[in-house]
Formats: sequence, structure tokens, C-alpha cells
Amino acid sequence: MAPSRPSLLLLLSVSLLAAARLAAATDHIVGAHLGWNPNINYSDWANNQTFYVNDLISFRYQKNTYRVFEVNQTGYDNCTTDSAVGNWSSGKDFILLDEPKRYYFICPGFCFNGMKVSVVVHPLPSPPGSHNASLSEHSKIHGSGAAASLLGGGGFLGSLAATAAAISAAWIGI
Ligand SMILES: *[C@@H]1O[C@H](CO)[C@@H](O)[C@H](O)[C@H]1NC(C)=O
Ligand SMILES: *[C@@H]1O[C@H](CO)[C@@H](O)[C@H](O)[C@H]1NC(C)=O
Ligand SMILES: *[C@@H]1O[C@H](CO)[C@@H](O)[C@H](O)[C@H]1NC(C)=O
Ligand SMILES: *[C@@H]1O[C@H](CO)[C@@H](O)[C@H](O)[C@H]1NC(C)=O
Ligand SMILES: *[C@@H]1O[C@H](CO)[C@@H](O)[C@H](O)[C@H]1NC(C)=O
Ligand SMILES: *[C@@H]1O[C@H](CO)[C@@H](O)[C@H](O)[C@H]1NC(C)=O
Repeated sequence: MAPSRPSLLLLLSVSLLAAARLAAATDHIVGAHLGWNPNINYSDWANNQTFYVNDLISFRYQKNTYRVFEVNQTGYDNCTTDSAVGNWSSGKDFILLDEPKRYYFICPGFCFNGMKVSVVVHPLPSPPGSHNASLSEHSKIHGSGAAASLLGGGGFLGSLAATAAAISAAWIGI
């Protein structure tokens, strides 16, 4: 049996919201337009932006010449790969920063030429206006609209989701 229209709409509003939240994660391109190359001071680049959990760090470089190794602090300080927890070599690598901690990346062979970068990843900030008690009151009154605000927080995305949920709620007839 095909799903009814209202549930499709509700599904749409929820997945739209999920997509929007995913899109909110930033892709930090190492070195910006300079990419991953020797003789660049990447601490200037790293210090100039804020990293949050679920952001991406991406390395763009000449394949077969350079690589990316994730190492620990010792590996970063001494340009060694004994501590490698991952390595990439596609020339365009996207690495998910999924933990709130300091990450270290180096390029073996070119690490002493400056191809090393360390970034601090911060925990996700709590969504704006997350009031526990008032939210449950809210959900009694507004039904699925509150579900959307629970997922979406505030701002444009939140109102977008609330609108979508309101439409589906109207369709269901609550
Ligand atoms: C990179 O720049 C920072 C400050 O901008 C400086 O402290 C650091 O020594 C530099 N690193 C190198 C290898 O030059
Ligand atoms: C820091 O970021 C600003 C704004 O994005 C940019 O204009 C500036 O060139 C950046 N500086 C460095 C050293 O990357
Ligand atoms: C890393 O290098 C420092 C000096 O820069 C040295 O004291 C230390 O023993 C080295 N660590 C390893 C594991 O090689
Ligand atoms: C990094 O890993 C190496 C090899 O596993 C280890 O000897 C070293 O103590 C580690 N350094 C840190 C700071 O955890
Ligand atoms: C690079 O990563 C692969 C797995 O993705 C692993 O099998 C290989 O040993 C790693 N290479 C080094 C030099 O750490
Ligand atoms: C939400 O509830 C949890 C546990 O009940 C509490 O730790 C947290 O501070 C509350 N957050 C707000 C914004 O009231």
C-alpha cells in the first residue's frame, strides 16, 4: 500500500530539514586556493577558522606527489608516520572531523617543508533557544510543528521546516 499524502509531506519536511542541517557543516579546504603544497605556513590558515564536529577538512593536491597522513602530536612534531591512524592519496580527500579534539595531518617527505597542519575541532554549539520544558508544552499545542522546531532550532531553516510541517499538519487535519 502506498503511503498517504500527509505522511509523505511530513517525511519530506523532515528529510528537507536533515539535508539542510547536513549542508550546514563546513568544508574547510586546507590552504584555501593554495591547496596542499610545500612552503606554506598552514598555522595561519588553521588559526583563521573555526572547526566544529562533523565539519570536513579537505586536501587538494597533485596526486602521486603528495599525500595526507593523520598522525598524533609526536608524528606532527617530528614528521613521522609511526602513529598514523589514516592516510589518503586521491588528490582530493575529504576527511570528516567527527570528534571534538585536536587533529594532526602531515605529508610524508614534505612535512619538513611545511606540509603539516593541526586543527582544533570544537563540540557542536547547542541549538539556539533549546528550552526543554517549554518545548513539551509547545508540542501539545502545535503537534508536528513543534517536532520541526525541535529538529531545526530557530532561524530560517527552522521556519522553513515549521512551514512544511504546518502544511502537512493541515493536510492530516490536526
Ligand atoms: C607559522 O606562522 C606562525 C605565526 O603566524 C609562527 O608562529 C610559526 O613559527 C610559523 N611556522 C613556520 C614553520 O614558519
Ligand atoms: C582569514 O580569513 C579572512 C576572511 O575569510 C580572509 O580575508 C583572510 O585572507 C584570511 N587570512 C588568512 C591568513 O588566511
Ligand atoms: C621528537 O622530537 C623531539 C625533538 O624535536 C625529541 O625530543 C623526541 O624524542 C622525538 N620523539 C620521538 C618519538 O622521536
Ligand atoms: C604517538 O604514537 C606513537 C606510536 O604509536 C607513540 O609512541 C607516541 O607516544 C604517541 N604520541 C602521543 C603524543 O600520543
Ligand atoms: C594507509 O592506509 C591503508 C588503509 O586505508 C593501510 O592499509 C596502509 O597500511 C596505510 N599505509 C601506511 C603507510 O600507513
Ligand atoms: C535540558 O534538560 C537537561 C536534562 O534534563 C538539562 O541538563 C539541560 O540543562 C536542559 N537544557 C535547557 C536549555 O534547559
